[in-house]
Amino acid sequence: MVKTIVWKDDQVVMIDQRKLPMQERYVVCKGYRSVIRAIKGLVIRGAPAIGVAAAMGVALGALKIRANNREQFEEELDSICREIVAARPTAVNLAWAVERMRRVADETGHRGVKGIKSRLVEEARKMLDEDIAINQTMGRHGQKLLKDGSRVLTHCNAGALATGGYGTAIGVVRAAVEAGKRIEVFADETRPFLQGARLTAWELKESGIPVTVITDNSAGYFMQHGKVDAVIVGADRIAANGDVANKIGTYMVAVLAKTHKIPFYVAAPLSTIDASVKSGKEIPIEQRDEKEVTHFQGRRIAPQGVAAQNPAFDVTPHRNVSAIITEKGIITPPFKAKIRQLLASG
Ligand code: MRU
Repeated sequence: MVKTIVWKDDQVVMIDQRKLPMQERYVVCKGYRSVIRAIKGLVIRGAPAIGVAAAMGVALGALKIRANNREQFEEELDSICREIVAARPTAVNLAWAVERMRRVADETGHRGVKGIKSRLVEEARKMLDEDIAINQTMGRHGQKLLKDGSRVLTHCNAGALATGGYGTAIGVVRAAVEAGKRIEVFADETRPFLQGARLTAWELKESGIPVTVITDNSAGYFMQHGKVDAVIVGADRIAANGDVANKIGTYMVAVLAKTHKIPFYVAAPLSTIDASVKSGKEIPIEQRDEKEVTHFQGRRIAPQGVAAQNPAFDVTPHRNVSAIITEKGIITPPFKAKIRQLLASG
């Protein structure tokens, strides 16, 4: 399976997701600022994957700090952490990962600067391995929701490319296939970055899982014609009440699914749950460059001077969510108390 991100010889290597599926290129980050550029520019994207990238960014940054006294080292490390957290606002995995790295640095203080540095590298690498294992566990839980022959619609890319590997929503599909079920996937193309058409379709094809790319605006057509048995998406942040922020267009799909009585499942690790936000209203939504809408592959498609807006995520209210699949099991509505219990057990 594709390696989304690896730590190699004190550098971070990522597959360039802007170029897929036409070219399989890799970006090598030698310093934390190039990791930030890669996150902002969508070389790497997907909540768990940017969490891992952020952790590796902290480790890279730490390695380059020259200060030998702990106080100055920590001051510089804090400033690196702040810069990395600011790279993208919606996926909470980014802040979660940086916070975990910061804690590790605190706990290792007694080992001196050299000791902290090597412990941070170790932790970032561990987070990558953990993420893959979590996705596999989540997949094993979630696949029970799919029957042999299920036709699953997904939005954006919540696969191996959006994570350390295996995937969240696509991980559930993978696990169902591994359990011997025949599963077909409808991949919404997911304008404007085309995560569905380019990335989900690419990785499913590579894995030999049947996939059909559809335009975003035809999801309703396929549901109305009885072609979709379940929707599974990932998440960038889940609020304490179960509201789900995910790629723009997810809300539309959730509303359609409810109208057509199709289950709408969200697969996400506990690191995507942010108990500090009570509801989706408090989740910051990234607004990206309007050029991503007015231009296609560098060429203008909308009239010069026309206004455009480009919110990158939307919030699906918890009442539209049939179940949340996590590494600790599946929860169904009402979510609030169950989310609290899950986090307490994590
Ligand atoms: O802008 P992106 O591509 O980073 O958005 C990604 C998504 O919305 C994914 O669906 C989400 O992160 C879940 S990934 C397992």
